[in-house]
Parts: sequence; C-alpha cells; structure tokens
Amino acid sequence: MFRYFGSKASTAPVVADIALDGYKNATVADAFGGLGNIGAEFKKRGCLVTACDLLHFPNAFQHVRLVCDGLPNFSRVRKLLSVSSQEGLLIHLNSLCSDESWFVKEYAEVRGFFTAENAAKISAVWLEIKSWKTLELIDVDEEKFLIASLLNSMDAVANTAGTYYAYLKKWDRKALKTFSFEWYLGFVEGPRGVAIRGDALNYLSDKKFEVLYLDPPYNGRDYSRYYHLPETLAKFEEVSVDSNSKCGQPVVRSTMGSQIRNAMRLPYLLDLINSVSWERLVVQYADGAHICLNELERALVTQGTLKVHEIPALGYQSTNGTRQQMHHVFIINK
Ligand SMILES: C[S@@+](CC[C@H](N)C(=O)[O-])C[C@H]1O[C@@H](n2cnc3c(N)ncnc32)[C@H](O)[C@@H]1O
Repeated sequence: MFRYFGSKASTAPVVADIALDGYKNATVADAFGGLGNIGAEFKKRGCLVTACDLLHFPNAFQHVRLVCDGLPNFSRVRKLLSVSSQEGLLIHLNSLCSDESWFVKEYAEVRGFFTAENAAKISAVWLEIKSWKTLELIDVDEEKFLIASLLNSMDAVANTAGTYYAYLKKWDRKALKTFSFEWYLGFVEGPRGVAIRGDALNYLSDKKFEVLYLDPPYNGRDYSRYYHLPETLAKFEEVSVDSNSKCGQPVVRSTMGSQIRNAMRLPYLLDLINSVSWERLVVQYADGAHICLNELERALVTQGTLKVHEIPALGYQSTNGTRQQMHHVFIINK
C-alpha cells in the first residue's frame, strides 16, 4: 500500500471500534482523511462517511474507498479499445510504453526516482488515462480508481525512502522490479460516502454529523512538497520542473503548504470543532507532535465529557524501518 506520513492503517480498526461505541450506522466526518484508512473502517461498520483532504491524490484514494463500491465498468473505454473485460483493460495498460516524455526525462534521466524502463511504462499509463479523461470517456469513479491504481503501483517501484522529497543514491531492490499496473482494490462494503477535495473548515462548517473524527497534520511537514509527484499526476498536469530542485518540484510550487501548516495548529482545530455540529468528537493525536498533549486535553475537556484511550501504533514506515508510537484517542461526548 502507498506509504503515507501519518497513515492510521495500523490503528484504524481499534480506533473505529472505540469511536463508534454505542452508535449504529452513524453519520461521520473524517476531516483530514488522508488515504481513507479510518474512513474505510467507519464505512465497513455501516457509517455514512464524509471525508476531506486538501490534496488531489489522497482524495483519489478516499474516493475509491468511501464512494466506489467495486471495480468500475469502463464501458466507453472498453468499447473504444474493443476489449471485453476489465482484465483486458489491464493487459492493454501494461502493454504501453512512452520513452520520450517529461516524466521519463525529469524522474528517470535527470533524477533517479525510477528506472528508465519503469518511468516509460508509468508515463504511458498516465498519458493514456489523461487522454481518456480529456475525451470524457471516463466518469469520476473511473478516473479516481485509475489514478489511485497508478499511484499505488508506481509507489511500489519508487526509488525512495517513502516520500518524493528525495530519491535514493543507490537503486533500492524494489525500484529494480518491473512496474506492473495493478488495480487498487481498496473498496469496502457499506453506504456510499462522500470524498471532498478541499479545506476541512471550509467544507464542513455548519454541517451536522453524529461523529466528528480529527486526525490533523502533526507537524510542519508539507504534504504538498513531500508528495509533489503523486499530486502532479493526480491533477493530470504536465508541469515545468524546477531544474534547481533536487527532487524535481514543479517551478510553480503548490500553495497548499500554508493551509496545511495552519491546520496543524490548535486555533484552526478549535474553529473546526466549534463550527461543525457533532454529538461525539474523536481526536487522534500522537506523542511529540506540534500541539502539546496537556494543552490539547485542556482545550478538549471544555467541549464535553472526555475520555482518553492510549493505543500503541506503528509510526511511519520507511526503508529504515518502522517506529513505535503512542497514539492518544480523545473521545468527547457533548
Ligand atoms: C495525519 S494525515 C491523515 C491520515 C489519514 N487518517 C490516514 O490514515 O491516511 C493528515 C491529512 O490532512 C490533510 N490536510 C492538511 N491540511 C488540511 C486541511 N486544511 N483540510 C483538509 N485536509 C488537510 C493532509 O493532506 C493529510 O492527508
């Protein structure tokens, strides 16, 4: 699975059980949805989930998990290509190769993020999906499913320690494997949810949910810079790359950084908590993060009856290994 800072994959089932204790088929907002790990657990438990994220590529993963209910049909694309099944489409996508693209030049020849062979395949699949989108041959479910599948498959052969902020000096074993485009089968059973690409406060203000779940950014790491490449691909933009940037950031940098940094601060979280109508608030927060735990607890206790659970978690996974962390799950009932 795509490696992501702050992913709650390891704690999601336990946290979802604690968060929903006493509720059945609740309406839930996952304000900082990321790859949708927690949202998917809520959906599995019958909840109607609305998730937000500022960035395009987490939104694609969330869409697959929370909105889609299975492999899309791709009827218009299959008709165009005369392929009878989704399996045939997979074979078609894996047969493509595009040696001369900006992606191959910038992320294989100039910078060693991918082998030239893999970059040519990734680039070709991306260009093919982009052309289907331009010709309006795919609907929104199909588009999000295709891009999440591409990014997940690409991440499996990226020559990185986990993010796209740097590539490794030597070729990692996984980067030398041949790229294969695989379906991202992240769907879960449950009510069809909503995945919004946008600022949590903007979108969720004045809306009503039984449970409001918050897993905010923990520190000043700018997701839009660390994951610039998947974000560029998910936006279907061919960007000019800054020749002075070692990791190949676009010349025009993402403007999301200030919004992401703002969302890690307590005043933003309190604005969000006070502007959404909820019955139960759930905040998951790690040791050693931007807001001191005592300060967070003092602010949350004013909101209702508070209980704190401590859950051992696996921290972010890189090629250097996985760190153990303690997560604090604050449950506040109004
Ligand atoms: C700690 S991660 C969430 C991880 C997620 N629970 C998971 O398991 O994948 C925080 C997420 O908040 C997003 N984010 C940051 N600022 C935001 C904002 N103002 N509105 C919505 N999402 C935001 C980031 O892009 C990132 O995906």
